[in-house]
Amino acid sequence: MKIIGTGSAIPSKVVTNEMLASFLDTNDEWITTRTGIKTRRLRSTETLVDLAVSASRSAIESANIQPDEIDFCICSNVANNYVTPALSCIVQQHIGSHAPCFDLNGACAGFLDAMSVAEALLKTNRAKNILIVCAEEPSRFCNWKRRETSILFGDGAGAVVVTKGNDLKSLRLTTVPNRDVIVYQRRMENTPFEVPGVDITEPLIMNGREVFRMAVESSQRDLRLVIEEAGLTPDKIDLYLLHQANQRIIKSIQEHLAQPAYKFPTNIERMGNTSSASIPILIDELYSSGKLKKGDMLALSAFGAGFVTGAAVLRWSK
Ligand code: ACO
Repeated sequence: MKIIGTGSAIPSKVVTNEMLASFLDTNDEWITTRTGIKTRRLRSTETLVDLAVSASRSAIESANIQPDEIDFCICSNVANNYVTPALSCIVQQHIGSHAPCFDLNGACAGFLDAMSVAEALLKTNRAKNILIVCAEEPSRFCNWKRRETSILFGDGAGAVVVTKGNDLKSLRLTTVPNRDVIVYQRRMENTPFEVPGVDITEPLIMNGREVFRMAVESSQRDLRLVIEEAGLTPDKIDLYLLHQANQRIIKSIQEHLAQPAYKFPTNIERMGNTSSASIPILIDELYSSGKLKKGDMLALSAFGAGFVTGAAVLRWSK
Protein backbone atom coordinates (compact mmCIF):
# COMPACT_ATOMS: atom_id res chain seq x y z
CA MET A 1 0.00 0.00 0.00
CA LYS A 2 1.02 3.60 -0.51
CA ILE A 3 -0.77 6.90 0.07
CA ILE A 4 -1.15 8.88 -3.17
CA GLY A 5 -3.61 11.57 -2.06
CA THR A 6 -4.57 13.42 1.12
CA GLY A 7 -7.42 15.76 2.05
CA SER A 8 -9.19 17.23 5.05
CA ALA A 9 -12.10 19.48 5.92
CA ILE A 10 -12.84 21.17 9.20
CA PRO A 11 -15.81 23.27 10.34
CA SER A 12 -15.50 27.04 10.05
CA LYS A 13 -16.59 27.68 13.66
CA VAL A 14 -13.63 28.14 16.02
CA VAL A 15 -14.60 27.57 19.66
CA THR A 16 -12.13 28.81 22.27
CA ASN A 17 -11.79 27.67 25.87
CA GLU A 18 -13.06 31.07 26.95
CA MET A 19 -16.25 30.51 24.93
CA LEU A 20 -16.82 27.21 26.78
CA ALA A 21 -16.15 28.90 30.12
CA SER A 22 -19.07 31.25 29.39
CA PHE A 23 -21.55 28.39 29.99
CA LEU A 24 -19.53 25.64 31.75
CA ASP A 25 -17.76 25.71 35.12
CA THR A 26 -14.30 25.55 33.53
CA ASN A 27 -11.48 27.85 32.46
CA ASP A 28 -8.71 28.16 29.87
CA GLU A 29 -5.98 27.33 32.38
CA TRP A 30 -7.57 23.99 33.42
CA ILE A 31 -8.28 22.89 29.85
CA THR A 32 -4.85 23.95 28.55
CA THR A 33 -2.82 22.32 31.30
CA ARG A 34 -4.86 19.07 31.43
CA THR A 35 -5.35 18.56 27.69
CA GLY A 36 -3.26 21.00 25.61
CA ILE A 37 -6.43 22.11 23.80
CA LYS A 38 -6.82 25.86 23.13
CA THR A 39 -9.50 25.78 20.43
CA ARG A 40 -11.61 23.21 18.59
CA ARG A 41 -13.69 23.37 15.41
CA LEU A 42 -17.37 22.56 15.89
CA ARG A 43 -20.01 22.09 13.20
CA SER A 44 -22.40 25.02 12.91
CA THR A 45 -23.45 25.71 9.32
CA GLU A 46 -21.88 22.62 7.71
CA THR A 47 -23.05 19.01 8.02
CA LEU A 48 -20.82 16.01 8.58
CA VAL A 49 -21.61 14.94 5.02
CA ASP A 50 -20.29 18.32 3.75
CA LEU A 51 -17.01 17.74 5.60
CA ALA A 52 -16.66 14.11 4.47
CA VAL A 53 -17.36 15.03 0.83
CA SER A 54 -14.97 17.98 0.86
CA ALA A 55 -12.13 15.93 2.42
CA SER A 56 -12.77 13.11 -0.09
CA ARG A 57 -12.75 15.46 -3.09
CA SER A 58 -9.46 17.00 -1.93
CA ALA A 59 -7.85 13.57 -1.47
CA ILE A 60 -8.97 12.43 -4.95
CA GLU A 61 -7.69 15.66 -6.51
CA SER A 62 -4.40 15.31 -4.63
CA ALA A 63 -4.10 11.73 -5.95
CA ASN A 64 -4.48 13.14 -9.46
CA ILE A 65 -7.24 10.70 -10.38
CA GLN A 66 -10.93 11.01 -11.29
CA PRO A 67 -13.72 9.94 -8.88
CA ASP A 68 -14.65 7.04 -11.20
CA GLU A 69 -11.12 5.63 -10.73
CA ILE A 70 -11.89 4.99 -7.05
CA ASP A 71 -12.83 1.33 -6.92
CA PHE A 72 -13.50 0.98 -3.19
CA CYS A 73 -14.54 3.46 -0.51
CA ILE A 74 -14.24 2.91 3.23
CA CYS A 75 -15.67 5.42 5.67
CA SER A 76 -14.63 5.43 9.32
CA ASN A 77 -17.31 6.92 11.56
CA VAL A 78 -18.51 6.33 15.10
CA ALA A 79 -21.99 7.87 14.74
CA ASN A 80 -23.86 10.35 12.58
CA ASN A 81 -27.45 11.21 11.67
CA TYR A 82 -27.76 8.39 9.17
CA VAL A 83 -27.91 4.91 10.64
CA THR A 84 -28.61 3.74 7.12
CA PRO A 85 -27.59 4.19 4.34
CA ALA A 86 -23.94 4.16 5.34
CA LEU A 87 -22.10 7.49 5.30
CA SER A 88 -19.81 6.03 2.62
CA CYS A 89 -22.83 5.56 0.29
CA ILE A 90 -23.85 9.19 0.79
CA VAL A 91 -20.31 10.43 0.19
CA GLN A 92 -20.05 8.33 -2.99
CA GLN A 93 -23.27 9.80 -4.36
CA HIS A 94 -21.88 13.31 -3.87
CA ILE A 95 -18.47 12.66 -5.40
CA GLY A 96 -19.85 10.68 -8.35
CA SER A 97 -18.32 7.28 -7.63
CA HIS A 98 -20.10 3.93 -7.97
CA ALA A 99 -17.52 1.82 -6.17
CA PRO A 100 -18.44 -0.71 -3.50
CA CYS A 101 -18.34 0.95 -0.11
CA PHE A 102 -19.00 0.41 3.56
CA ASP A 103 -18.57 2.13 6.92
CA LEU A 104 -16.56 0.81 9.80
CA ASN A 105 -16.61 1.85 13.42
CA GLY A 106 -13.25 1.39 15.06
CA ALA A 107 -13.80 4.32 17.42
CA CYS A 108 -10.76 6.62 17.48
CA ALA A 109 -8.61 3.86 15.92
CA GLY A 110 -10.83 3.64 12.80
CA PHE A 111 -8.18 4.98 10.41
CA LEU A 112 -5.85 2.09 11.27
CA ASP A 113 -8.72 -0.40 10.83
CA ALA A 114 -9.48 1.09 7.42
CA MET A 115 -5.81 0.87 6.43
CA SER A 116 -5.77 -2.78 7.43
CA VAL A 117 -8.87 -3.58 5.33
CA ALA A 118 -7.54 -1.53 2.40
CA GLU A 119 -4.22 -3.41 2.48
CA ALA A 120 -6.10 -6.74 2.30
CA LEU A 121 -8.26 -5.51 -0.62
CA LEU A 122 -5.20 -4.33 -2.53
CA LYS A 123 -3.22 -7.51 -1.86
CA THR A 124 -6.09 -9.70 -3.09
CA ASN A 125 -6.57 -7.58 -6.24
CA ARG A 126 -10.07 -6.53 -5.18
CA ALA A 127 -9.25 -2.87 -5.72
CA LYS A 128 -6.65 -0.55 -7.22
CA ASN A 129 -7.49 2.87 -5.77
CA ILE A 130 -9.20 3.02 -2.38
CA LEU A 131 -10.66 6.12 -0.76
CA ILE A 132 -10.50 6.09 3.04
CA VAL A 133 -12.47 8.91 4.64
CA CYS A 134 -12.67 9.36 8.39
CA ALA A 135 -15.51 11.74 9.27
CA GLU A 136 -16.44 12.40 12.87
CA GLU A 137 -18.64 14.72 14.92
CA PRO A 138 -17.87 13.60 18.51
CA SER A 139 -19.10 16.96 19.81
CA ARG A 140 -22.61 15.61 19.19
CA PHE A 141 -22.11 12.68 21.62
CA CYS A 142 -21.55 14.97 24.58
CA ASN A 143 -23.84 16.30 27.21
CA TRP A 144 -22.99 19.98 26.82
CA LYS A 145 -23.80 20.60 30.48
CA ARG A 146 -20.86 18.34 31.44
CA ARG A 147 -17.41 19.91 31.58
CA GLU A 148 -15.61 16.54 31.88
CA THR A 149 -16.25 15.52 28.27
CA SER A 150 -17.52 18.43 26.17
CA ILE A 151 -14.23 20.37 26.37
CA LEU A 152 -12.31 17.54 24.70
CA PHE A 153 -13.79 17.15 21.25
CA GLY A 154 -13.76 18.74 17.81
CA ASP A 155 -15.42 17.79 14.51
CA GLY A 156 -13.76 17.18 11.16
CA ALA A 157 -12.91 14.84 8.31
CA GLY A 158 -9.63 13.52 6.94
CA ALA A 159 -9.17 11.40 3.84
CA VAL A 160 -6.49 9.54 1.91
CA VAL A 161 -6.39 7.67 -1.38
CA VAL A 162 -4.27 4.52 -1.27
CA THR A 163 -3.06 2.26 -4.02
CA LYS A 164 -0.73 -0.72 -4.41
CA GLY A 165 2.81 -0.23 -3.16
CA ASN A 166 5.33 -1.29 -0.55
CA ASP A 167 5.15 1.66 1.84
CA LEU A 168 3.21 -0.09 4.61
CA LYS A 169 5.94 -1.86 6.59
CA SER A 170 3.86 -3.19 9.49
CA LEU A 171 0.38 -2.86 10.99
CA ARG A 172 -1.13 -4.21 14.16
CA LEU A 173 -4.68 -4.03 15.59
CA THR A 174 -5.62 -5.11 19.12
CA THR A 175 -8.63 -5.16 21.41
CA VAL A 176 -8.61 -5.33 25.18
CA PRO A 177 -12.32 -5.84 25.94
CA ASN A 178 -13.33 -3.10 28.36
CA ARG A 179 -16.64 -1.52 27.45
CA ASP A 180 -16.80 0.67 30.50
CA VAL A 181 -14.01 3.21 29.93
CA ILE A 182 -15.80 5.05 27.11
CA VAL A 183 -19.45 4.37 26.26
CA TYR A 184 -21.72 6.34 23.94
CA GLN A 185 -25.29 5.06 23.85
CA ARG A 186 -27.89 6.20 21.36
CA ARG A 187 -31.60 6.13 22.10
CA MET A 188 -33.61 3.78 19.84
CA GLU A 189 -37.33 3.05 19.44
CA ASN A 190 -38.94 0.49 21.75
CA THR A 191 -41.18 -2.27 20.41
CA PRO A 192 -44.48 -2.97 22.28
CA PHE A 193 -42.96 -6.33 23.29
CA GLU A 194 -39.82 -5.10 24.95
CA VAL A 195 -39.33 -5.30 28.70
CA PRO A 196 -38.33 -1.74 29.63
CA GLY A 197 -34.62 -1.53 30.32
CA VAL A 198 -32.56 1.11 32.03
CA ASP A 199 -33.13 4.52 30.45
CA ILE A 200 -30.15 6.30 28.93
CA THR A 201 -29.55 9.32 31.11
CA GLU A 202 -26.10 10.31 29.88
CA PRO A 203 -25.03 9.96 26.24
CA LEU A 204 -21.24 9.77 26.65
CA ILE A 205 -19.72 8.20 29.74
CA MET A 206 -15.96 8.24 30.06
CA ASN A 207 -13.46 7.30 32.73
CA GLY A 208 -10.86 9.86 31.71
CA ARG A 209 -8.09 8.65 34.00
CA GLU A 210 -8.47 5.04 32.88
CA VAL A 211 -8.56 6.06 29.19
CA PHE A 212 -5.38 8.04 29.80
CA ARG A 213 -3.63 5.09 31.45
CA MET A 214 -4.72 2.55 28.82
CA ALA A 215 -3.83 4.91 25.96
CA VAL A 216 -0.26 5.45 27.13
CA GLU A 217 0.30 1.79 27.99
CA SER A 218 -1.11 0.41 24.74
CA SER A 219 0.28 3.02 22.36
CA GLN A 220 3.90 2.75 23.46
CA ARG A 221 3.59 -1.07 23.43
CA ASP A 222 2.03 -1.10 19.94
CA LEU A 223 4.60 1.35 18.60
CA ARG A 224 7.54 -0.71 19.86
CA LEU A 225 6.03 -3.84 18.27
CA VAL A 226 5.28 -2.34 14.83
CA ILE A 227 8.65 -0.59 14.72
CA GLU A 228 10.42 -3.86 15.54
CA GLU A 229 8.28 -5.72 12.99
CA ALA A 230 9.35 -3.17 10.38
CA GLY A 231 12.99 -3.99 11.21
CA LEU A 232 13.59 -0.55 12.75
CA THR A 233 14.30 1.06 16.11
CA PRO A 234 12.41 4.08 17.57
CA ASP A 235 15.20 6.50 16.63
CA LYS A 236 14.87 5.51 12.94
CA ILE A 237 11.29 6.86 12.88
CA ASP A 238 11.15 10.40 11.49
CA LEU A 239 7.66 11.30 12.72
CA TYR A 240 5.22 9.77 15.19
CA LEU A 241 1.64 10.54 14.17
CA LEU A 242 -0.51 9.74 17.17
CA HIS A 243 -4.26 9.97 17.74
CA GLN A 244 -4.83 13.47 19.04
CA ALA A 245 -6.69 12.78 22.29
CA ASN A 246 -4.70 14.75 24.82
CA GLN A 247 -1.33 16.55 24.62
CA ARG A 248 -0.29 14.92 27.91
CA ILE A 249 -0.97 11.43 26.50
CA ILE A 250 1.24 12.27 23.50
CA LYS A 251 3.99 13.68 25.74
CA SER A 252 3.92 10.62 27.97
CA ILE A 253 4.26 8.26 24.97
CA GLN A 254 7.10 10.42 23.65
CA GLU A 255 8.91 10.13 26.98
CA HIS A 256 8.34 6.35 27.16
CA LEU A 257 9.93 5.99 23.72
CA ALA A 258 12.75 8.42 24.65
CA GLN A 259 12.30 10.33 21.39
CA PRO A 260 12.54 14.13 20.87
CA ALA A 261 9.32 16.18 21.01
CA TYR A 262 9.76 17.57 17.46
CA LYS A 263 9.05 14.07 16.10
CA PHE A 264 5.49 14.23 17.53
CA PRO A 265 3.59 16.86 15.51
CA THR A 266 0.15 17.77 16.88
CA ASN A 267 -3.04 19.57 15.99
CA ILE A 268 -4.85 18.86 19.29
CA GLU A 269 -4.20 22.46 20.42
CA ARG A 270 -6.24 23.80 17.44
CA MET A 271 -8.64 20.91 16.69
CA GLY A 272 -9.41 19.10 19.94
CA ASN A 273 -9.99 15.35 19.69
CA THR A 274 -11.51 14.60 16.27
CA SER A 275 -11.69 10.83 16.92
CA SER A 276 -10.68 8.67 13.93
CA ALA A 277 -10.26 11.78 11.74
CA SER A 278 -7.36 13.10 13.82
CA ILE A 279 -4.52 11.16 12.13
CA PRO A 280 -5.64 11.69 8.49
CA ILE A 281 -6.24 15.41 9.21
CA LEU A 282 -2.72 15.59 10.67
CA ILE A 283 -1.26 13.78 7.65
CA ASP A 284 -3.00 16.21 5.28
CA GLU A 285 -1.81 19.24 7.27
CA LEU A 286 1.78 18.00 7.33
CA TYR A 287 1.79 17.11 3.63
CA SER A 288 0.16 20.38 2.57
CA SER A 289 2.67 22.43 4.57
CA GLY A 290 5.67 20.57 3.13
CA LYS A 291 6.56 18.87 6.42
CA LEU A 292 6.50 15.33 5.02
CA LYS A 293 9.57 14.45 2.98
CA LYS A 294 9.84 11.58 0.51
CA GLY A 295 11.40 8.62 2.31
CA ASP A 296 10.26 9.75 5.81
CA MET A 297 9.44 6.81 8.04
CA LEU A 298 6.16 7.42 9.90
CA ALA A 299 4.83 5.56 12.95
CA LEU A 300 1.06 5.80 13.47
CA SER A 301 -0.79 4.89 16.66
CA ALA A 302 -4.43 5.29 17.71
CA PHE A 303 -6.64 4.02 20.53
CA GLY A 304 -10.27 4.33 21.51
CA ALA A 305 -13.51 2.94 22.92
CA GLY A 306 -13.54 -0.82 23.09
CA PHE A 307 -10.71 -0.63 24.17
CA VAL A 308 -9.24 -0.87 20.66
CA THR A 309 -5.83 0.10 19.40
CA GLY A 310 -4.02 0.19 16.08
CA ALA A 311 -0.49 1.08 15.00
CA ALA A 312 1.51 1.01 11.80
CA VAL A 313 4.84 1.94 10.23
CA LEU A 314 4.54 3.60 6.85
CA ARG A 315 7.19 5.03 4.51
CA TRP A 316 6.10 8.32 2.95
CA SER A 317 6.65 8.38 -0.81
CA LYS A 318 4.31 11.07 -2.18
N1 ACO B 1 -12.76 22.25 33.96
C1 ACO B 1 -12.43 22.39 35.26
N2 ACO B 1 -12.38 21.34 36.12
C2 ACO B 1 -12.68 20.14 35.63
C3 ACO B 1 -13.04 19.92 34.28
C4 ACO B 1 -13.09 21.05 33.44
N3 ACO B 1 -13.41 20.96 32.14
N4 ACO B 1 -13.27 18.60 34.10
C5 ACO B 1 -13.06 18.00 35.28
N5 ACO B 1 -12.71 18.92 36.20
C6 ACO B 1 -12.39 18.71 37.61
C7 ACO B 1 -12.92 17.42 38.16
O1 ACO B 1 -14.27 17.55 38.56
C8 ACO B 1 -11.98 17.14 39.30
O2 ACO B 1 -12.40 17.93 40.39
P1 ACO B 1 -12.23 17.38 41.92
O3 ACO B 1 -10.76 17.19 42.11
O4 ACO B 1 -12.83 18.47 42.73
O5 ACO B 1 -12.99 16.08 41.95
C9 ACO B 1 -10.65 17.70 38.82
O6 ACO B 1 -10.97 18.60 37.74
C10 ACO B 1 -9.69 16.62 38.32
O7 ACO B 1 -10.38 15.75 37.43
P2 ACO B 1 -9.68 14.51 36.78
O8 ACO B 1 -10.69 13.76 35.99
O9 ACO B 1 -8.91 13.77 37.82
O10 ACO B 1 -8.63 15.25 35.81
P3 ACO B 1 -7.52 14.61 34.89
O11 ACO B 1 -6.22 15.24 35.22
O12 ACO B 1 -7.58 13.11 34.86
O13 ACO B 1 -7.94 15.15 33.46
C11 ACO B 1 -9.00 14.42 31.44
C12 ACO B 1 -9.18 14.76 32.90
C13 ACO B 1 -8.55 15.67 30.71
C14 ACO B 1 -10.34 13.95 30.87
C15 ACO B 1 -7.92 13.33 31.31
O14 ACO B 1 -8.15 12.28 32.20
C16 ACO B 1 -7.87 12.80 29.90
O15 ACO B 1 -7.60 13.51 28.95
N6 ACO B 1 -8.08 11.50 29.76
C17 ACO B 1 -8.14 10.91 28.43
C18 ACO B 1 -9.55 11.02 27.94
C19 ACO B 1 -9.64 11.00 26.46
O16 ACO B 1 -8.69 11.10 25.73
N7 ACO B 1 -10.86 10.87 26.02
C20 ACO B 1 -11.12 11.01 24.63
C21 ACO B 1 -12.16 10.10 24.17
S1 ACO B 1 -11.60 8.56 23.82
C22 ACO B 1 -10.29 8.66 22.88
O17 ACO B 1 -10.10 9.53 22.08
C23 ACO B 1 -9.36 7.59 23.06
